[in-house]
Amino acid sequence: MSVVVITGAEQGLGLALARLYANDGFRVVAGCLNPNLEGIVALAASSPQVEVIPLDVTSESSVAAFGDRLSGQAVDLLINNAGIHRRKGSAPESVVFSDWEDTLRVNTLGVARISFALRANLVMAAQARLVTISSDWASVSQHPGTAYDYCSSKAAVNSVMRGMAMNWAKDGVIILMVHPGWTRTKMGGADAPLLPEDSASRVKSLISRTTTADNGRYVDNLGNDMPW
Ligand SMILES: NC(=O)c1ccc[n+]([C@@H]2O[C@H](COP(=O)([O-])OP(=O)(O)OC[C@H]3O[C@@H](n4cnc5c(N)ncnc54)[C@H](OP(=O)(O)O)[C@@H]3O)[C@@H](O)[C@H]2O)c1
Repeated sequence: MSVVVITGAEQGLGLALARLYANDGFRVVAGCLNPNLEGIVALAASSPQVEVIPLDVTSESSVAAFGDRLSGQAVDLLINNAGIHRRKGSAPESVVFSDWEDTLRVNTLGVARISFALRANLVMAAQARLVTISSDWASVSQHPGTAYDYCSSKAAVNSVMRGMAMNWAKDGVIILMVHPGWTRTKMGGADAPLLPEDSASRVKSLISRTTTADNGRYVDNLGNDMPW
């Protein structure tokens, strides 16, 4: 059974991805900051192949404990989905610097931390994939002119992924950065055009088509190149 690890899997896009992969027969390891949220509890109760493990990607000890639970097991796919966006809709210069630091801790350093912790598990798989859920707001050339905290965190994580794509290819790991589309979640808000299951379905389909030629690409949910 193929194994997928999804971070931030208790709601939103992460939960929708967990559902799709579970329905497709994957073993789903759901890393959750809040493992008691209704959606992930219900999914785990109805799908024996879904395992919920507490995970705070900002915490060394939490990531280490998560890694210990997967010790010696191959991971075919890691989806770095966990993310935060604190300062929506405010004047960009009014950003609270402690929020900005938190955003970098989750969206950039947290993604690197869990990725590095699971590197050995990914290398054990025949052809592993590491997919980081990025954003159109990661694009430096098409910066929206707002949300300096969120945009910089996503641009920075793309930079880290590009470096990892150079270094991990020899170990058979394909790395991809995906803008999931504006999606109706806690983060995306009620006006977003895409339902979580729609963007999750596109992202899953895209991942299934990924080959070594895609290593290091930054794409939208249909696989089109995004501007750096
Ligand atoms: N929705 C959109 O339109 C959109 C657009 C572009 C990119 N994205 C990206 O898509 C991904 C999923 O976002 P979403 O829209 O599904 O947002 P969401 O509903 O807010 O889900 C994000 C999940 O990440 C979790 N998380 C936050 N901090 C964490 C930490 N330290 N460790 C582990 N998990 C943590 C959150 O937990 P709590 O909420 O319980 O704290 C939440 O369950 C994010 O990376 C986001 O940046 C979303």
